[in-house]
Amino acid sequence: MAGKIEVAAAQVASNVRVAEGIFLLKLRGDYSAAPGQFYMLRAWDRNPLLSRPLSVFNLDGDGISFLYAVRGRGTGLLSRLSPGNEIGITGPLGNGWPRRDGRIALVGGGLGIAPLFYAAGVFSGSDAYLGYPDEPYLVDEFARVAARVMVSSDTGAGGTKGFITDIFDPDGYDACYACSPRPMLAALDRICSRAGVPLFVSLEERMACGVGACLGCAVRTVHGYARVCRDGPIFPSSEVMWNG
Ligand SMILES: Cc1cc2nc3c(=O)[nH]c(=O)nc-3n(C[C@H](O)[C@H](O)[C@H](O)COP(=O)(O)OP(=O)(O)OC[C@H]3O[C@@H](n4cnc5c(N)ncnc54)[C@H](O)[C@@H]3O)c2cc1C
Ligand code: FES
Repeated sequence: MAGKIEVAAAQVASNVRVAEGIFLLKLRGDYSAAPGQFYMLRAWDRNPLLSRPLSVFNLDGDGISFLYAVRGRGTGLLSRLSPGNEIGITGPLGNGWPRRDGRIALVGGGLGIAPLFYAAGVFSGSDAYLGYPDEPYLVDEFARVAARVMVSSDTGAGGTKGFITDIFDPDGYDACYACSPRPMLAALDRICSRAGVPLFVSLEERMACGVGACLGCAVRTVHGYARVCRDGPIFPSSEVMWNG
């Protein structure tokens, strides 16, 4: 895990719409995070009550960025931020992707591409498989950091028409890191276990405290319940109970 957890006021450098309902928020300053970690963000006073978790999309000399979809009130308020606005952030949180030698495949579905971009930059030589519901976005940016980029879209608006799991072949990879809605992760679990390739998945659960205190984000694993915020969000796929 990178860095000690800090609660800070952060200044918005930019907040750009990259696709319909999808924004890239950049905060100025000096932050730390390992690929796969997340921060809790808060751009409001009391409503909503809780801060919202977002994966680190990228970290560079100028600041930290987050890629997010507008879903409800919290992300709706984030989407209205302008350069110079201040927000509260807490992090870095969670465990991050494991460090593995060899060829890594990064597989993301929808907003699941968010925790993979920074990983592609840090784990050099890895390939990115990006599955979009419709028009792809940020593909050129991924192409600058990943060894190869493969794209699919459900509608055929870009890349191969269909799911990214239709074109992902785990053969030849030493590990696969994935983030997406749960049904796609369960499909990847079957694909990777058949091929004998270790799969690590980033799980998303609704979060309250974000630091392991409330058990609100518990998921079932072969070792019993685990907290996504503290024990994850990244888990070996072989430890996740995919049926419950
Ligand atoms: C560790 C972690 C990392 C995340 N990283 C990202 C990211 O990089 N980019 C991104 O866009 N989103 C990410 N999310 C999801 C994001 O936190 C939620 O979309 C956000 O909290 C919704 O807040 P809201 O107030 O806008 O919506 P709400 O009003 O709280 O909810 C709107 C709708 O979204 C659903 N929802 C809310 N939170 C989740 C969730 N965690 N999983 C599934 N459905 C949910 C609700 O059930 C509801 O239907 C992450 C979640 C976790 C746990
Ligand atoms: S959100 Fe409170 S324990 Fe995870």
